[in-house]
Amino acid sequence: MKRKWWQDAIIYQVYLRSFKDSNNDGIGDFKGLTSKLDYLKNLGVNTVWVSPHYKSPMDDNGYDISDYFKVSKDYGNIDDVIDFIEKAHIRNMKVIFDLVLNHTSDEHEWFKAAKNPVHVDHHKYHDYYIWQTPKYDKQGNRQMPTQWRSWFGGPVWEYNPPTNEYYLHIFSKKMPDLNWHNDNMKRDLKDVARWWIDLGVDGFRVDASNHLEKDWSFPEGHPGYEYFSSLPKHHEYLEEFGVEVFKPNNVMAMGEAGGATKEEALKYCGFENDEFDMLIHFGHCWADCDDSNHITPGKWSKGQIDVLHIKKSFDKWFKMLNGDGWNLIYWHNHDHPRVISHYGNDSVYHNESGKMLAFCLYMMPGTPIVYQGEEIGMTNVDYHNLEDFRDVEVFTEYDNFLSFGATHEVAMQALRDRSRDNARSPFQWDATKYSGFSTTKPWMNINYNYKVINLENQLEDKSSLYNTHKELFKLRKEEKLNDGVLEFINMKDKNTIIYVNETETSKFLIITNFTTHKVIVDLDIELTGYRNIMYNYTARELLPKMKLLPYEALVYKKEK
Ligand code: GLC
Ligand code: CA
Repeated sequence: MKRKWWQDAIIYQVYLRSFKDSNNDGIGDFKGLTSKLDYLKNLGVNTVWVSPHYKSPMDDNGYDISDYFKVSKDYGNIDDVIDFIEKAHIRNMKVIFDLVLNHTSDEHEWFKAAKNPVHVDHHKYHDYYIWQTPKYDKQGNRQMPTQWRSWFGGPVWEYNPPTNEYYLHIFSKKMPDLNWHNDNMKRDLKDVARWWIDLGVDGFRVDASNHLEKDWSFPEGHPGYEYFSSLPKHHEYLEEFGVEVFKPNNVMAMGEAGGATKEEALKYCGFENDEFDMLIHFGHCWADCDDSNHITPGKWSKGQIDVLHIKKSFDKWFKMLNGDGWNLIYWHNHDHPRVISHYGNDSVYHNESGKMLAFCLYMMPGTPIVYQGEEIGMTNVDYHNLEDFRDVEVFTEYDNFLSFGATHEVAMQALRDRSRDNARSPFQWDATKYSGFSTTKPWMNINYNYKVINLENQLEDKSSLYNTHKELFKLRKEEKLNDGVLEFINMKDKNTIIYVNETETSKFLIITNFTTHKVIVDLDIELTGYRNIMYNYTARELLPKMKLLPYEALVYKKEK
């Protein structure tokens, strides 16, 4: 396959709302982002993925789109977008936009017509969405078609009195799911993508891409995820979109999906397929859930970190795609807790564990995605009032926790540990009030620790997390780490992640301790010739038996 630009990319994910506010209304925007392009360029990333910027009532911070062709007034106008794309391109940077194909906002014109039987366009748009008539119990009470549960915690069905039907929403009730059996709907979405391609975007991240097909026999199930996630037919839709929209226009597409077999993985992002170029999968995420917790269950229960699980997932994906597809690597996105609070240690070992996580990930092959603020070690939020949170999911889940028996404090701790808001607090640029993000109180509170953890504090400090990331990105490019071959060592050790990334010219050995205690590692490989090029405590000679300090991490290089 001819080499593609995205194989040399280092992607930076921007959560627009919280990156940089240019007009001081407390909300991040395009002008703010454009003003930080030099910062990003200097950090060493070359591609920017922007979270949804379309017109939206912001029930789910823009993933609920009410007009695909308009820019949200919160973020600026179309000229600001054009200017951003131009200025990124001048700097040799690529632009990726988020493309939401699974649902619209309930305030989208299509849905307004669909739900209203007397609307002139009702017949045209009703079938753009997924409707079911009610069931009735013996007493004649209206019942939902199924007991399926939405990803945000409540039922997936919302009743619409004017048509006496329920519509399906697998996320919030303000996000009705689109009907991918409808050809006109598909045509309209393809036009949306083409319109943004014409404006100059280089790629898309396709939101919720494994949810497009549903089981139209609507079997009973609770939560019933298997009836609206990863059904075989969604591959057909993605392929159709790829063939008609992405490939002919030469734009990059990356999808998201939960698990996948090798066959499926290659369908999504094998070199020979037509769906995506790369896939964001979640194999290494949430490797610390406590299954015995039924009060704040599932992803909300923080337990012991399972390091084996993390490395097995990376190993599995590299083996599955080996030579037949291209890997994406990342720690987390806007739907997860901050990695330093999640898999590292955001208090005593902030700097050490931050570097350990950076070495561990950014020395691997593949195309990396850096999440905004990760490069300075931003942490989970420290909100103490429910009202401090913003995410739509938080509020349904908080009520669930209480109904399962959680106290207010237990529920709040689960939110601080696990909610999506952790990744969404404003960027900490400096120590001024509102952290240089804005001069007004932002839409969401700044993290309490911004006076200590901020970019300005780290710019001049050679040993800072910021400069460590910068050094790693430089090394990635110089050494063509994206192209290497990954091999894990000591696979069974539950405390460490150790691997070799072998490039054409060198071998890199990365040793990382994921625990707060000292661990001993035995290295049963050929050790001669390795030089220690990066470390988070002090430089160390490579030995067959090494005692690692808490979160110690070392990078060695050997020329071939
Ligand atoms: C994806 C997004 C998430 C959003 C959901 C619905 O999972 O990453 O933030 O809430 O889709 O669009
Ligand atoms: Ca603004």
